Amino acid sequence: MVRHGVPHEPNPLLGREEDIAAVEHLLRSFRAVTVVGSGGLGKTRLAHAVSRRAEQRVVHFVPLVGVTADEDVAAEVASALGAGEGRHGAVSGHASADPVSGILGVLGSGPTLLALDNCEHVIRGAAGLVQALLSASKDLRVLATSRAPLGLTSEAVYALPELGLDTSVELLTQRARAARPGVQLPPDAVGGLCRPGTGDRCRGHVQAQPGAAGRGA
Ligand SMILES: Nc1ncnc2c1ncn2[C@@H]1O[C@H](COP(=O)(O)OP(=O)(O)O)[C@@H](O)[C@H]1O
Ligand SMILES: [Mg+2]
Repeated sequence: MVRHGVPHEPNPLLGREEDIAAVEHLLRSFRAVTVVGSGGLGKTRLAHAVSRRAEQRVVHFVPLVGVTADEDVAAEVASALGAGEGRHGAVSGHASADPVSGILGVLGSGPTLLALDNCEHVIRGAAGLVQALLSASKDLRVLATSRAPLGLTSEAVYALPELGLDTSVELLTQRARAARPGVQLPPDAVGGLCRPGTGDRCRGHVQAQPGAAGRGA
């Protein structure tokens, strides 16, 4: 088992067992699965968990959050995989001339999962790369996270639901306690913040906890 770039979690993942199982199920039937949902919903955390548990022997996890141009996606992934370095190098360090071959060289021909996180800024670039990689390698599967689908025919889309009320309350309570030990948290007030339809507000509170929620993003 080799897991490249899958971070260790800073805190427990709450209430996502069913979603993990659903995405794992889709990954058995589809070559590309995109976890879709609004910002802060937990797509990246879910992708970490699926990547860590993946049945593929080799997993590469590549965050695309810093990539701003579609044209740069392949080069970014190649660089994250170390394509062009050492024995995987295309032609004596000229991997940048053809990042797709460099990536394919690193991925090899065995069962591999490539996770591309935060594709929303570069959907066209990510879609083009995924299509090129899937058509060139039989045993590759791709897991993507994005606010919108990549639009590929090989793709299954998993719309990540909001956390249930109990889980939202637990998450907000945990993060508040981590940020401020001993803080008083009246259950009614926390529940009010996390009621269905207030998901954005609740996530906003979780993410606003200084140094607590933000660390795992
Ligand atoms: N189920 C969960 N259990 C614990 N923390 C969570 C959960 N879902 C989201 N978070 C936390 O909420 C924040 C946003 O999650 P993230 O996965 O980055 O969302 P997205 O990728 O959809 O924008 C992060 O700090 C993350 O650790
Ligand atoms: Mg994300």
